[in-house]
Amino acid sequence: MYKKYFLLAPLFFLFSCATELYQPITGTEKVPIEDLKKGRTLYVNKCAACHHLRLPSKYSEKGWVVNLNKMQKKAKITDEDKQLIYQYLINAPKK
Ligand code: HEC
Repeated sequence: MYKKYFLLAPLFFLFSCATELYQPITGTEKVPIEDLKKGRTLYVNKCAACHHLRLPSKYSEKGWVVNLNKMQKKAKITDEDKQLIYQYLINAPKK
């Protein structure tokens, strides 16, 4: 009788990870909302192939620059995509 819940567990895990990543609701002075949304989509699509997604708060702005430069080749993203992901990551609402 408990079996089906075990089957659902990985699914729940997947969703819970994705929802922890903030959804942009407004743009900033420098970055329009469309770019933040694009950045989030790119981050989810390009950066989760090899490892789990780190939360934006895990690294400082400088830390993200270093990590994104390291990961750019692995993820095969353009400079423009990298910039969009970067903008998304560093504009996370501060807790
Ligand atoms: C082809 C596989 C692959 C893809 C795609 C990938 N990564 Fe990684 N990532 C790795 C591996 C392997 C490591 C751990 C080894 C290392 O630090 O080089 C890692 C480590 C990291 C770390 C931790 C670095 C540290 O020093 O602990 C961060 C942050 C990260 N990746 C972010 C990203 C982001 C952002 C993207 C998307 C742009 C991305 N990764 C895409 C393979 C990948």
